[in-house]
Amino acid sequence: MSANYNNSAWFYDRLSHMVYGRALINAQVYLLQYVPAGADVLIAGGGTGWILEELTKIHLSGLQITYVEIAADMMALSKKRNIGSNKVIFINDAVENVNPDIKFDLVITPFLFDNFTEQTTQKVFNHLHNLLKPVGLWLNADFQLTGKWWQNILLRSMFLFFRMLCNIEASKLPDIDKQFELNGYKVIIEKAFFSDFIISRVYQKL
Ligand SMILES: C[S@@+](CC[C@H](N)C(=O)[O-])C[C@H]1O[C@@H](n2cnc3c(N)ncnc32)[C@H](O)[C@@H]1O
Repeated sequence: MSANYNNSAWFYDRLSHMVYGRALINAQVYLLQYVPAGADVLIAGGGTGWILEELTKIHLSGLQITYVEIAADMMALSKKRNIGSNKVIFINDAVENVNPDIKFDLVITPFLFDNFTEQTTQKVFNHLHNLLKPVGLWLNADFQLTGKWWQNILLRSMFLFFRMLCNIEASKLPDIDKQFELNGYKVIIEKAFFSDFIISRVYQKL
C-alpha cells in the first residue's frame, strides 16, 4: 500500500512549522526564483498547495502548471489556493501514473523523494526525467544527512511518525544525488537550510 498523506493534510503545515519554523518554506521559495516566465511547470507532491501561492507572487500570470498530488485531502486544500491568472491542471494521482501530452520546461519535487524506497525513487525519477525537456530545470528540495548527530534522530522520528500515520514506505533517505548524477544532470546552484539538514538544488538536464 502506498503512502497516504490524507490523515495529515489538516495539520501538516502547522506541524512542519512547529518543527522547522520557516525552513521548509524558505527552502522551496528559494528555488522558485529559477522558474522562468511562461514556463510549463510540473509540481509533484505539492502537499497543501501553498507553493502555488508563492509561485503566483513571482509570476502572476503566464505559467502553465500541472500540479500532481496523490492525497485527495491535500489536493482539496491545494485547489483553494490563489493561482492568479496562471493556468493550473490539478491531477489527483501518483505522479508516476501521469502521462501528459506535453514535456515540461521545469519540474519541482519539494520533499517528495524522502517518502520513497530506493526502488520507488528510481521509478519516479525516471518517469519525471522523461517528462522534462532537454536543458530543462529540475528544482529539488529535501533532507540530507551531513553528519550532525541530531539530524539522524530527527529523521528517524519523522519516518516513524509518518509511517504510523501515513504509511510511508521509506525508513531511510534514498540516494537522490545518485539518480541526478547517473542521468547526467548539472547542479546550477544550491543552498542549505536548517543547519544543512535541508538542501535545495537547481539541476539542469543536459
Ligand atoms: C513530505 S510531503 C511534502 C508536501 C509539500 N511539498 C511540502 O513541502 O509542504 C510529500 C507529499 O507528496 C505527496 N506524494 C507522495 N507520493 C506521491 C506520488 N507518488 N505522486 C504524487 N504525490 C505524492 C504526499 O501526498 C505529500 O503531500
